[in-house]
Amino acid sequence: MRIIKTKNYEEMSKRAADLIASVILLKPNCVLGLATGSSPIGTYQNLVKKYQAGELDFSEVRSVNLDEYKGLAKENEQSYYYFMHDNLFSKVNIKMENTHLPDGMEPDSEKACKEYDEVIASMNGVDMQLLGLGHDGHIGFNEPNKEFDKTTHCVNLTEMTIEANKRFFKSINDVPKQAYTMGVGTIMAAKMVIMLVSGKDKAKILKDAFFGPVTPEVPASILQFHPNFILVADEDALSLVK
Ligand code: F6R
Repeated sequence: MRIIKTKNYEEMSKRAADLIASVILLKPNCVLGLATGSSPIGTYQNLVKKYQAGELDFSEVRSVNLDEYKGLAKENEQSYYYFMHDNLFSKVNIKMENTHLPDGMEPDSEKACKEYDEVIASMNGVDMQLLGLGHDGHIGFNEPNKEFDKTTHCVNLTEMTIEANKRFFKSINDVPKQAYTMGVGTIMAAKMVIMLVSGKDKAKILKDAFFGPVTPEVPASILQFHPNFILVADEDALSLVK
């Protein structure tokens, strides 16, 4: 595990964008595993800037996203499809047919998950997987559990995650209760994993995840075993780590 400590969210976003840019420069048709949420927004802004400056070309880049809410259509502003379109895909020259998210509108969970695993398998490996860290240690929507889920599956979101995500919805009742997510096995199979963590509110879980025991009760802790895991975190998030 390599830790890049930054002053704040802005510097974290710049450093992460530099790392991702290097992946694209080295392999123009790379497969990027992407995340949504607050943590990667600044990173996407920096990638867009590099594209606008003519430093990056996304025309051959392919992407697979970590997760999608079950029951939200692409046009729904809270869907992860909408988020990706809004924050990155519509602002760079990535081909939409090369971007992939689980199909939130597929009501048959088994079918949705099987189809998504087939998409991921057809890519022959994810070159870089970007992650945020949930307050309960979740990665993607892999919530604390008795075991690590390996492949794409449908999850019931925990109260803590519903509570954390309600800020994006009109009311807590509008927050979907289920989501499709890549499994921990798929995340661990990525050639490189970059995790972004910012803020004092993440300091305790960051310490538990990366300086405590590896356990499915803290899903992110398994990244301690990843051979090429880079944690890009700001001073506040690292404030409990000696
Ligand atoms: C997003 C995702 C989630 C978030 C996590 C942190 O696609 O899978 O695991 O990365 O909930 O969210 P933020 O970045 O909003 O703190």
